[in-house]
Amino acid sequence: MTRRPVGTATRGTTNPNRLRRMDRWIAAAHGAALRRGEAPPVAVDLGYGAAPWTAVELLTRLRTADPRCRVVGIEIDPERVTAARPYEREGLDFRHGGFEVPVDGPVALIRAANVLRQYDEDAVAEVWARLCGRLTPGGLLVEGTCDEIGRRHVWVALGPEGPRTVTFATRLGSLEHPSDLAERLPKALIHRNVPGEPVHAFLRDFDRAWAAAAPYASLGARQRWISAVRRLAADWPVCDDRRRWRQGEVTVAWEALAPRL
Ligand SMILES: C[S@@+](CC[C@H](N)C(=O)[O-])C[C@H]1O[C@@H](n2cnc3c(N)ncnc32)[C@H](O)[C@@H]1O
Repeated sequence: MTRRPVGTATRGTTNPNRLRRMDRWIAAAHGAALRRGEAPPVAVDLGYGAAPWTAVELLTRLRTADPRCRVVGIEIDPERVTAARPYEREGLDFRHGGFEVPVDGPVALIRAANVLRQYDEDAVAEVWARLCGRLTPGGLLVEGTCDEIGRRHVWVALGPEGPRTVTFATRLGSLEHPSDLAERLPKALIHRNVPGEPVHAFLRDFDRAWAAAAPYASLGARQRWISAVRRLAADWPVCDDRRRWRQGEVTVAWEALAPRL
């Protein structure tokens, strides 16, 4: 008897290169862990959508970190699996499934982009726990949201033990205020962007740091972002450094932004 995949089919919106910022961060942040494994690492692009572009691109970008990587694209909508099959190649295949992750054994990476946004907030903790339970001991789950063309992203990175960090990533030329990213907060945080919640205080402080860094705007948005993040790091546990800030990113410890119960 075949089991029903866990989850619900949702809109399949996707775009080529939409997830490039997330892919590059994964390759940089998780590349060493991928290379450490003895077996070729298996990565899952969960909920790749109406076309398989993000899975194809994830394979290419992960292979810059570890040429042994394999990617499995998993979709809960069977027609989207059929549509993706012609794109299968060495190291890339597509399967029908859901949050149970129908791959033999634990996996080194699960990326779920723009999937949980269409679920209820109450579903997030259980889905995270289920997906984290499918990771190898050094594995990573990256779950987050972005706009249609990938200019603004926010994602949570989780290890087998649970959430670790939150990353904000943006095309700097398109940014008026850091709080523009609020509309792309992942499901676990988007309803918490209200006074009294840590993520609201964080975005307020980020906007203040951005305003204080206004004199750097004449040197370009990148210099302004770097200066704003440096100010922010005085009060918030920023986990990365200038090399990532230059890309229009900042990563913060999850505990600092986690919703108050
Ligand atoms: C908005 S699309 C995102 C596509 C791609 N990840 C991107 O960011 O461009 C969301 C996709 O997730 C799929 N989906 C929703 N729940 C799922 C689940 N539990 N398991 C696998 N796929 C799922 C939907 O069918 C839909 O095709």
